[in-house]
Amino acid sequence: MKFFIDTASVKEIQEANAMGILDGVTTNPTHMSKEEGTFEDILLRICEIVDGPVSAEVVSLKWEEIVAEAGKIAKIHPKIVVKIPITLDGLKAIKRVSSEGIRVNVTLCFSATQALLAAKAGATYISPFIGRLDDIGHEGMELIRTIREIYDNYGFETQILAASVRSPQHVVQAALAGADVVTLPPAVIKQLLAHPLTDIGLKRFLDDWNAWKQKK
Ligand code: E4P
Repeated sequence: MKFFIDTASVKEIQEANAMGILDGVTTNPTHMSKEEGTFEDILLRICEIVDGPVSAEVVSLKWEEIVAEAGKIAKIHPKIVVKIPITLDGLKAIKRVSSEGIRVNVTLCFSATQALLAAKAGATYISPFIGRLDDIGHEGMELIRTIREIYDNYGFETQILAASVRSPQHVVQAALAGADVVTLPPAVIKQLLAHPLTDIGLKRFLDDWNAWKQKK
């Protein structure tokens, strides 16, 4: 399973990259709006850090404009994957842009039919938003399981990128459901590693070791 980080913060990306487990980055317009600098500069800095795909999202709504914007974003750096929301215009643009060889991450996916259409249009990644589905009383993880089954039934190569992740439990469940990638908020990356019994156990080992050394 690949681990992406879900942020546009260069500092957070550097920290996660230093852990040695980072396979890529996903950004969105909300993440971008929190950073200093131009869209292009932020992406170039991120691409210098990470050895993997970096998703950057279009903000156009009409399909011809999405296609033009996607072309410009893809030219920023070879690591860039263009994020396109799954609307009717988005779908037309996904088909066109993918056929031109640009990798597309289809975003704001909340249903299996949206995921099926994205795969048929040639998307590289589909991003089901599991946390936002949980927020409205659905079971977001069920969508990951359903998409996995559909893609496997037909041999679609579109990678399932579990997005809108809120907890380590989401990561475990997404792995069990066969998601290809999970994109993680920085806080969840830290939670993946932490366990109170590890801290307690380490303290006890070191206390015992030091007490033994002092007796000698
Ligand atoms: C995915 O690519 C999105 O950027 C992200 O996962 C959205 O997560 P949120 O629901 O926590 O905003």
